[in-house]
Amino acid sequence: MSVRSRVAGKAHGLAPAVASPVIKWVGGKTKLLPDLTSRLPSSWRRYYEPFAGGAALFWRVAPQRAVLADMNPDLIGLYTALRRDVAGVIRRLEHHRTQHSEAHYYDVRTRWNDRDIAWTSADRAATFIYLNKTCFNGLWRVNRSGAFNVPIGRYVDPPICVPDTLRAAHAVLQQTELRCGDYKTAIGDAGKGDFVYFDPPYDPVTPTANFVSYTASAFGPDQQRELAETAQKLVAKGARVMLSNSDTPFIRSLYKGMRIDRVMCARAINSNASKRGDVAEVIVTGGY
Ligand SMILES: C[S@@+](CC[C@H](N)C(=O)[O-])C[C@H]1O[C@@H](n2cnc3c(N)ncnc32)[C@H](O)[C@@H]1O
Repeated sequence: MSVRSRVAGKAHGLAPAVASPVIKWVGGKTKLLPDLTSRLPSSWRRYYEPFAGGAALFWRVAPQRAVLADMNPDLIGLYTALRRDVAGVIRRLEHHRTQHSEAHYYDVRTRWNDRDIAWTSADRAATFIYLNKTCFNGLWRVNRSGAFNVPIGRYVDPPICVPDTLRAAHAVLQQTELRCGDYKTAIGDAGKGDFVYFDPPYDPVTPTANFVSYTASAFGPDQQRELAETAQKLVAKGARVMLSNSDTPFIRSLYKGMRIDRVMCARAINSNASKRGDVAEVIVTGGY
């Protein structure tokens, strides 16, 4: 069933729901998809997703005109390579699949962090997917200098190369503009009739619960405040805005005047299994 018929029953011109994330990403929205798709506006001009990550909602919606952005250059490099040369990425991933071992993982991880290596974009994209699918907990974490430092995970048969998913992503990306950088720049030309979905790094529920190292820089209270102002300005310009975040008093205070729905979501951001479970999140909507 397509998102169009399930979500709004209106003519978005959306593709059937065949595409899905090509990587695992902390904060990925796959589990929240029913709550998100049921809150989409019924139509829009251009779709913007400036905190792409694994981009679960983007793949599900498969928008006809879109801007997909993130400040993580490896992520945007991956999507750029998939758009341009999906066959090349699949070929290289098949190689990693057949070579997969502990020694291969650590060898590839060392090469990934060696910025002197001249990679093709397909090489680097395939390596990103390989490390992402085989690393511990699928936890893409970099240190302050941007080096990927996660040990190998304990998987019997990790899904290193799934050609159908990669080809579906390739198809959706043909109608997408990719931008690498801060979200404010990425949505700089969004305006009346456009739809923007913000999925920023979440406000921490407890002082120790904050996972903010998707990139080498942090997203703290000042950035949350600035994001809320950006969202309000977009609504004032006639754009439609949806945002997800954790359900904290601070986040609620930032989005007064917009609709705030509380939803429960199963989350596994903590590597300690005993600390996983349902957490309360909010979906904020405005402008529609
Ligand atoms: C919660 S994740 C997005 C998850 C995504 N919706 C999914 O389904 O996988 C947040 C993303 O925001 C990116 N990010 C962090 N700070 C940013 C900034 N200032 N501008 C743009 N992207 C940023 C991170 O690199 C990360 O990929």
